[in-house]
Amino acid sequence: MAIWHEVDKAVKQWLKDARKSIVESLESALDIDTKSNANDLVTNVDKETEQFFVKQIKEHYPHHKIVGEEGFGDKIDDLKGIVWIIDPIDGTMNFVHQKRNFYISIGILEDGIGRVGYLYDVILDELYWASKGKGAFFNEEMISPLEEGNINEAIIGFNPASIHSEQAAQTFIPLLKDVRGARSYGSAAMEFAYVATGRLDAYISLGLSPWDFAGGKIIVEELGGVVTDLQGNPVNMLEKSSILAARPELHKQLCDYLQS
Ligand code: IPD
Ligand code: CA
Ligand code: CA
Ligand code: CA
Repeated sequence: MAIWHEVDKAVKQWLKDARKSIVESLESALDIDTKSNANDLVTNVDKETEQFFVKQIKEHYPHHKIVGEEGFGDKIDDLKGIVWIIDPIDGTMNFVHQKRNFYISIGILEDGIGRVGYLYDVILDELYWASKGKGAFFNEEMISPLEEGNINEAIIGFNPASIHSEQAAQTFIPLLKDVRGARSYGSAAMEFAYVATGRLDAYISLGLSPWDFAGGKIIVEELGGVVTDLQGNPVNMLEKSSILAARPELHKQLCDYLQS
């Protein structure tokens, strides 16, 4: 539909504009605050980037609704109409400490259905994106659909620091031994982009917010991957959720493993 073509062009331009400001901001001191705890960081750049997107969207698409991590969007309690779900900087800790490995993540839904998704590696200027039914792309190159996989040969994205309870330890430590390898990149968007391109076979998180998974879910699903919570249920795009994103057959194996 014409609207998605136009939106796609606009988003890609805004991502480039945001990149320019973010890269410039790395030249000066960041204004860093904490949120829920001492390691939950937010900077002036997270807030300014979200404000930039909200301003552009409101100007060009005044009837669209916006959910953004930093709270400059709308307060919504349903997914009617067109809803943009935005994480202005995913991987803020990487942004602050490493000045790389952080993404802008955008998912746009129409009546609750994911239509277009964008995961943008700001420093590398690399864009992973998908348009529902039209394919998924790495920059301008089409990404091949995801093939089956199995646990013993899988490299999974998983943050070991998320093991907080004895029960979680009993579930995940054996899994970490059974898979071929595990990696933790510090950006959910990056882990989704890696699942999309086969650099990871699966990504598991015990708790993410909609802005962490909205863009990635659209891209991985467009490639035939499966994205659910850890019990295999569909995720609610307005609520926090655990996440299991994987190649199709591997998703089933991991779900069975986690339920056993
Ligand atoms: C965080 C990153 C991280 C994930 C956290 C998220 P933020 O997002 O995606 O990889 O483990 O749960 O909150 O706060 O850097 O946008
Ligand atoms: Ca955050
Ligand atoms: Ca995030
Ligand atoms: Ca963020």
